[in-house]
Amino acid sequence: MSFFIVKGSGPLKGEVDISGAKNAVLPILCACLLTDEECVIKSVPPLMDVCMLLDILKSIGAEVSYENEVVKIRFLNITKNEIDTNLAASMRASFLIMGPMLARTGKAKIPLPGGCRIGTRPVDLHLKGFEILGAKINQEFGYVSAQAEQLKGDYVYLDFPSVGATENIMMAASISEGATLIENAAEEPEIHDLAVFLNKMGANIKMKGSGKIKITGVKKLKGTEHTVMPDRIETGTFMAAAAVTGGDIILKNAVLDHVQPASAKLAENGTITEKIRNGIHVYSTGEKKAFNIKTMPFPGFPTDMQAIFMSLMTISKGTSMVTETVFENRFLQAAELKRMGADIKTEGRTAVIEGVDKLTGARVNAPDLRAGAALVIAALASEGMTEIGEIQHIERGYSNFDEKLRKLGADIEKSDEEI
Ligand code: UD1
Repeated sequence: MSFFIVKGSGPLKGEVDISGAKNAVLPILCACLLTDEECVIKSVPPLMDVCMLLDILKSIGAEVSYENEVVKIRFLNITKNEIDTNLAASMRASFLIMGPMLARTGKAKIPLPGGCRIGTRPVDLHLKGFEILGAKINQEFGYVSAQAEQLKGDYVYLDFPSVGATENIMMAASISEGATLIENAAEEPEIHDLAVFLNKMGANIKMKGSGKIKITGVKKLKGTEHTVMPDRIETGTFMAAAAVTGGDIILKNAVLDHVQPASAKLAENGTITEKIRNGIHVYSTGEKKAFNIKTMPFPGFPTDMQAIFMSLMTISKGTSMVTETVFENRFLQAAELKRMGADIKTEGRTAVIEGVDKLTGARVNAPDLRAGAALVIAALASEGMTEIGEIQHIERGYSNFDEKLRKLGADIEKSDEEI
């Protein structure tokens, strides 16, 4: 078991490279199932989630090499239409294998993903989409099976713009007969990246705006090369790190258009973000004023940055409020932040945060990926030492997090022993 030992260490300064996006690379790797030719994916971050998904893909026949952030992957044959429960249990994103496997082979059997700490996370919208495209769905013994000799394009309306359902249906419809229109589709930048990738493979996908995506099915897709978009959640995390420490940093490769809501909230708080050539410049004006956020599907404020921005609120002057509309239980960081001296009250999907003059270091645990990152951000601005346990959650989604922060002047060490 490893820990992060963090000491509050003043303004962060310098440059940091933003890695390829976890939430873009996972669906893209699943999309490689749609062809028997080789795909080359560049800027693949060395994350636990990526390695786990590659293991799952290997278990169904993928030939994979992964070196220097480049994955070469080929599904010459799909050797199994079923994913092992033990492999899939550790990874919700493995459900994204269902759409492409169904489209390519006509059948797929995937363990039903369980809920996770942030919410129940059902897959009903994914399944509804596959059914509309003509698949027969069966659920038993903890598995979902889908079968269809030939998927047929149709009209799919999503009750909620689910990221995963949009991606899964988009991949399935890529190889089908006729055209599919997904309405009330999610439009996160990662979905655009997946559409770009699929189109390079020979798919015919048009992101039409206003929640409409049109996919005209084709018979076959081919291998291609793609560089994954930069991670906008990692970008937002480093933006918050600059804000809490009153710092001045350059985020290389980051795209300001992907993080506009975070940038607008930082401006209210007193931190400026500017587009520069190949990145973003973030600098503090010295002020930290209270602000409110309400999480929403893109282009709203992302739920994945909510916890991280709550850390900034804890030391911002005045009363801030967070409303979480996407997941039902996403304030897991609050109890840990309170151990560090934060004043937070939660009630259902709302949290009220009274800014305090200072946080103090404490022994805390990362409850999940983003809540864990939020604790690191809070620790950077705390007095004394914070010891963060359960950091395997953080490492699922951030590559070399401690190293990148150290490069900016943070006092953070990874240790295998509790202090
Ligand atoms: C993806 C992201 C995750 C992010 C989330 C919301 C990946 C690998 N993960 O997760 O980091 O927090 O988007 O931006 O890209 N829902 C249903 N039925 C469904 C599907 C979803 O009710 O069939 C609900 C969920 O329970 C949740 C909401 O819709 O409350 C959003 O989920 P969704 O957009 O599907 O998130 P994921 O794709 O799982």
